[in-house]
Amino acid sequence: MAKVLDLKNNNDYSKLQEAADIIKNGGLVLFPTETVYGIGSNGLNENAIKKIYIAKGRNENNPINLLVSSMEMINRVAKDISELEYKLMTTFFPGPLTIILNKKAIVPSILTANQDTVGIRMPSGTIAKKLVELSNVPIAAPSANVSGKPSGTRFDDIYNDFKDTVDCIIDGGNSSIGIESTIVKVLDGVPHILRPGSITDEQIKEIAGKVIKDYESNNSNLLSNNDKHYTLTSKSVLVINSDNDKLICKINEIANTYSFPVIMCSHKNINKFKSQKVIDLGSNLNEIARDLFSNLKKADNLSPDIIIIEGVKNEGIGSAIMNRLITSCQGNFINT
Ligand code: TXA
Ligand code: MG
Repeated sequence: MAKVLDLKNNNDYSKLQEAADIIKNGGLVLFPTETVYGIGSNGLNENAIKKIYIAKGRNENNPINLLVSSMEMINRVAKDISELEYKLMTTFFPGPLTIILNKKAIVPSILTANQDTVGIRMPSGTIAKKLVELSNVPIAAPSANVSGKPSGTRFDDIYNDFKDTVDCIIDGGNSSIGIESTIVKVLDGVPHILRPGSITDEQIKEIAGKVIKDYESNNSNLLSNNDKHYTLTSKSVLVINSDNDKLICKINEIANTYSFPVIMCSHKNINKFKSQKVIDLGSNLNEIARDLFSNLKKADNLSPDIIIIEGVKNEGIGSAIMNRLITSCQGNFINT
């Protein structure tokens, strides 16, 4: 049974030494980051990395990223870093950006699924940052979820799935962003966005002058063909319309053809669907992102005939929200 460290309502970070010792000794620790919770182990220890693949039920063709706490640590694991890559790191680290760099031989090939590149992120969340510092090794850390389930953003959503497979779980309250980091890879001097996140395409374009949205095309460099993202088990549809009245009309029209529909909508619309079960997605894009995975799980657990989801504006963090929602609904969306 995993040891639980409660850092939710206090900031006695001295408790983290115990978790760092577990990492150093090859164990598994579940911990919060500012994006989503991570499941971590010593990123330079092959056996410790294997344990992550097993605990998540993750396909070994799907590489795992490293969390670091300093530029010095990055230089221990990555090489041939270009000026633009440095610039992206100095601009956005620490924070919700993962950058794919050429790896050094010290990085075990099981971590990178035999590729010669490695994903690097320097988290800004205090617990994650201090845990890496105290462990003094880069921490291998994919999102904390059993493969195929939504990324964990709250202790209660993941405790049961991992209490028997990890050594320690740190409860640090809810992740503040709620959506996984933006992933970028520089190819021929141009940043390619492999996964959208809260650092937007526009922010990266401001630094580099140009950006290519690989996540919008099918030939993404992301090995995410092996990364089975979360899809709702219930039938679901995403509805988009810039005219709010037409949007409500369409959602009602669909809902009326089912006996137990669940509607997920923005806060301003929660009273527009009186006869239906309604889940409040939030009042603004940041709130919607923060609670998204928890709300999707809540809707699915009701086992409705259909989940009808109101889409959001495809701008800023809205692009990342829409990216996750389209996957959740398996591409089933109506733009009326
Ligand atoms: O916000 C985040 O990035 C969270 C927190 C815990 O740091 N982590 C996370 O990890 O979302 P994960 O493993 O769930 O998603 C990382 C993605 C995967 O789709 C993986 O295929 C991709 O990054 N990836 C890892 N290494 C890569 C590489 N060398 N080249 C291309 N894609 C890579
Ligand atoms: Mg994941």
